[in-house]
Amino acid sequence: MVSKKPISEALQNPIFENLRKVVLSWNKPTFVIGGFVRDFLLERALPNDIDIVTVGDGMALAQKVADSMKNSPQVQRFKNFGTAMIKTSDFELEFVGARRESYQKDSRKPQISSGSLEDDQNRRDFTINALAISLNDHNYGELLDPFNGIRDLENGIIRTPLDPDLTFSDDPLRMLRAVRFASQLNFSIAPETFASIQKNAARLGIISRERCVEELHKILKCPKPSKGLLLLDEAGLLEQILPEVTALKGIEEIDGHKHKDNFYHTFEVVDNICAHTDKLWLRWAALLHDIGKAPTKKFKPPTGWTFHGHEFVGSKMVYRLFKRLKMPLNDKMKYVQKLVLMSSRPIVIAEDIVTDSAVRRLIFDAGDLLEDLITLCEADITTKNPKRFARYHKNFQIVRSKIDDVEARDHIRNFQPPISGEFIMKSFHLKPSKEIGIIKETIKEAILEGEIPNEFEAALALMIKKGKALGLTYDGETL
Ligand code: CTP
Repeated sequence: MVSKKPISEALQNPIFENLRKVVLSWNKPTFVIGGFVRDFLLERALPNDIDIVTVGDGMALAQKVADSMKNSPQVQRFKNFGTAMIKTSDFELEFVGARRESYQKDSRKPQISSGSLEDDQNRRDFTINALAISLNDHNYGELLDPFNGIRDLENGIIRTPLDPDLTFSDDPLRMLRAVRFASQLNFSIAPETFASIQKNAARLGIISRERCVEELHKILKCPKPSKGLLLLDEAGLLEQILPEVTALKGIEEIDGHKHKDNFYHTFEVVDNICAHTDKLWLRWAALLHDIGKAPTKKFKPPTGWTFHGHEFVGSKMVYRLFKRLKMPLNDKMKYVQKLVLMSSRPIVIAEDIVTDSAVRRLIFDAGDLLEDLITLCEADITTKNPKRFARYHKNFQIVRSKIDDVEARDHIRNFQPPISGEFIMKSFHLKPSKEIGIIKETIKEAILEGEIPNEFEAALALMIKKGKALGLTYDGETL
């Protein structure tokens, strides 16, 4: 639904009053354009970046605006793109001179010449992003909509203002943007626009991986990312960015044994998890949790299909994927890797009788990621068998409450051994040696198995016993 509010409401912030005054003395046609106008008309939260286009030198206007403001903020100039930006505490104002633009075939660097507002609107990506509001005194607040952007907003359509082949070959990133807007706004892509994306999909190759990832992030932040992910796939874009995910496609059947389609399953898991978390990297983990299944898939009679070790293989693939897409190889990547690696652990527990020791081990191994891991595993339940669905969820409730019980009793999370290596060395007059590791491991295992409580006295007794078994002499005196 397009807002019925008068356009003047979009310009209520005092910043526009100031712009109006500057534009009056600037005396060249100047407009607010792009996302700010679109989001106002859709009654979405207004973005804090405001794009301003002027028929003339955008950088000079930016300077004039900055000079008119309290504290005269700095103007950042991006010469390559012919734009200038002013950051205030509330807004980022981006200025550009209206232009005609054409791009070289293999580059995103445009050849620019100045033009009219019409020219500028022509070169924009979508009709819904080409809507402009006048900041000029004679028609202040008037909406200029040469491509029926309002009609496309009403009908929920993403469409290019010009021949889509031209718009997309000018800037192939727009193909991802089309899908991202469709996903964010729950719009559809006009058939001729979509056909052009399919035709030009290979041109995505000239776009930097970082910019592609930015769009992927935005799709993953949507309430139902499967919409965007499926469109990416249908458009032929997904296999260029995430071939590990498209490799999960398909169901094979041998001797009556079928496996599930892990591609669609993955998207279901992503949608499921989005209902429970806003954490971007947890959503990434959901998207990648099964990528190890493609390379590990085997048919083993009489068992059927196996994906042995897919969690380990998948976690290794996460590193290569992050590297290829120039994503950060830091704690975010390690977080995703660990979740992928552990993604089957809780379900294995939940399928069986939930024992204390299995829960204790899970708490120990997952550490701070425990909550997120369980959230991922619950999202992973996509079985269409209602009995199994109910049973798995019930078992996860048992796992959750057991985690609370065990944790309250044994403090396994962020486990600190009750006896240190140094203490063991002193007790047995040992130099650094493998016996210390063996004793520490024995104590840790006994705690995790529930054979002894996570307490000093019990650990001491076990240490003495194990030390003797290793032929060591215990010297309680030195303690
Ligand atoms: N634009 C374009 N082609 C691009 C990027 C941007 O034509 N590849 C134009 C569109 O008119 C867009 C405006 O520049 O509305 C501002 O771009 P940007 O800030 O990236 O997008 P928004 O539309 O503001 O939306 P979002 O902030 O969600 O990306």
